[in-house]
Amino acid sequence: MKIIERVDKLRDFVAPLRKQGKSIGLVPTMGALHAGHLSLVERARRENDIVVVSVFLNPTQFNNPDDLKTYPRTAEADAALLEQAGADVAFMPTVGEMYPEPDKRVFELGPVMEVMEGKMRPGHFNGVCQVVSKLFEMSQATRAYFGEKDFQQIAVIRAMVEQMQTPIEIVTCPVVREDDGLARSSRNVRLTPETRRAAPAIFGTLKASLEFAKHHTLRQTHDWVVATINAWPEMEVEYFDIVDGRTLQSLANWDDSDYVVGCITVYCGDVREIDNITYFRC
Ligand code: PAF
Repeated sequence: MKIIERVDKLRDFVAPLRKQGKSIGLVPTMGALHAGHLSLVERARRENDIVVVSVFLNPTQFNNPDDLKTYPRTAEADAALLEQAGADVAFMPTVGEMYPEPDKRVFELGPVMEVMEGKMRPGHFNGVCQVVSKLFEMSQATRAYFGEKDFQQIAVIRAMVEQMQTPIEIVTCPVVREDDGLARSSRNVRLTPETRRAAPAIFGTLKASLEFAKHHTLRQTHDWVVATINAWPEMEVEYFDIVDGRTLQSLANWDDSDYVVGCITVYCGDVREIDNITYFRC
């Protein structure tokens, strides 16, 4: 596996491959790799001639400086995991390499960008679009792989690709979970023993709400999920929105959409966990 730190070197590596008609699978990450990322790399490996994994902690998508400061950094371990997983390139640029000049682009992608994470983390998705659009262009990828834990991020990236007419296929992969149901996340290492014990109740409650929803209104289901999780002293729901899975707009009734997803963010102590569940998709 090659470790590439410079943008011009990445371009030199991919240009002849694209000329030869080889497919390139890109897995964008911010490092602190875990089984969720590796499932994306494995899928990219199966579907492409060449696999490029970017490991770049993108400062422009952090609206909270403390979150950036405390985000785990494990570059050496990441490179070893990627080598084992069969990546061809680990692209590990510095901030100066990715942003030789401040990126002033403003992405206007409409309502998918404004709700939920967009409301709670102003500027977050603009930063995601800045870095992801650069990575798409630099890697000349045929396909890019994203995990469904970040449900809204996928909708935003699809909207960006459509608006920019980027010739790339967006591939999404299921959430990878611990045995107790907690979604794998780089931030999980920051949980204390107490919040780690509580956190599986997030997905436990979402799963139980599938049954609850069969006999209750959307509003009752919403309120039950929030109250059940908030009953844990270690946790506090920031938002739980039951939305249309394509537009991400809030729904009032179950039959207002044929694709219904619940998206949740919960503070476990000072660690922000996100997760989601599909109620149905016709
Ligand atoms: O999902 C992430 O880890 C990041 O938002 C991404 C897509 C790598 C962009 O920095």
